[in-house]
Amino acid sequence: MNIYKAIKDDHDIQRELCSKILKTSGDSEERRDIWEELKKELEVHEVAEERFFYSPLIDSDKMQEDARHGMAEHHEMDELIEELDDTDMSSPHWLATMEKLAEKVEHHLKDEEEDFFKKAKKIYSSEEAESLAKSYGETVSEYRKGWPEAIPGK
Ligand SMILES: [Fe+2]
Ligand SMILES: [Fe+2]
Repeated sequence: MNIYKAIKDDHDIQRELCSKILKTSGDSEERRDIWEELKKELEVHEVAEERFFYSPLIDSDKMQEDARHGMAEHHEMDELIEELDDTDMSSPHWLATMEKLAEKVEHHLKDEEEDFFKKAKKIYSSEEAESLAKSYGETVSEYRKGWPEAIPGK
């Protein structure tokens, strides 16, 4: 396993949940369950990815700006998550905001997979990419289990 594959696998979970939730309607149990799952996946992934993918890249001249850009997008996603939590699930505004979040997520994952991974592969050695995947995976499982309390700052 390497960090790129580990991240890509979790991105695919997010994509699937985004597409599922956009097919739900109203304040239903189904929508509530998928929303809980999606929120958990996004929050857990963000924290682990910042720690084991972005943070070490901040120190490299070549990727500092990309790393900052990626983390700024995490913040924008957090704001949309908060807005969704504050919106009545049965209102049309909820779905419209969810569509915004899904678009942002899709754009962000694409940036990471098609642009940032390529650049990072020139910075991380394959040994590093493997050891980052290990730490990333351990953190993700730990935070998934204890979400949301386990996540620092949540
Ligand atoms: Fe990300
Ligand atoms: Fe990601």
